[in-house]
Amino acid sequence: MAELRLEELSAKTIVAANSLTLRPGQEQFVTPVSYSIADAVIDPGTTWSRVVLDDDEVVGFIRGNFDPDAEHEEFRSCIWRINVSADAQGRGVGKFAVMGLADEARNRGFEQLTVIWEPGEDGPESFFLHLGFTIIGQTQYGENLGALKL
Ligand SMILES: CC(C)(COP(=O)(O)OP(=O)(O)OC[C@H]1O[C@@H](n2cnc3c(N)ncnc32)[C@H](O)[C@@H]1OP(=O)(O)O)[C@@H](O)C(=O)NCCC(=O)NCCS
Repeated sequence: MAELRLEELSAKTIVAANSLTLRPGQEQFVTPVSYSIADAVIDPGTTWSRVVLDDDEVVGFIRGNFDPDAEHEEFRSCIWRINVSADAQGRGVGKFAVMGLADEARNRGFEQLTVIWEPGEDGPESFFLHLGFTIIGQTQYGENLGALKL
């Protein structure tokens, strides 16, 4: 794998980012219920989206939300979406994307990065725990809320 880099979404990459193919069984974990519901009210101006490029190929996508004034603490500095294409999984792409988002959060003065995920086989729980997130609570929909200290 060549050197990975994060880039802003562009006309050239947006289609590829939207059509990343996941592994069977993973699709249900992409958007936890809490995020689908909050999507309707979130200010698009507070999101931070990047594609992960390996050479010129889009291999992943990450979106964060940074809003110190958000009513709910779990939406102030968080991962809103992350996915890595099936063929590129297990090679450090997801970790690279999360660390990029964590750097951005740190630069903005946040002390933690949070993420909500649905527990379950084929879900991302082990990935987040492996990166250093700890479970700090549960949502009303039975999802786990994790936090990474920055
Ligand atoms: C979760 C996801 C982003 C992980 O991306 P990835 O590129 O495969 O992960 P990485 O290769 O960067 O893994 C980083 C570390 O986590 C570990 N890891 C990743 N997935 C793991 C799993 N399912 N179980 C155990 N460990 C795992 C890796 O072994 C690696 O460890 P290392 O740093 O010691 O080498 C990817 O599987 C995905 O797109 N899933 C579907 C979408 C999804 O569920 N998104 C989350 C929404 S909340």
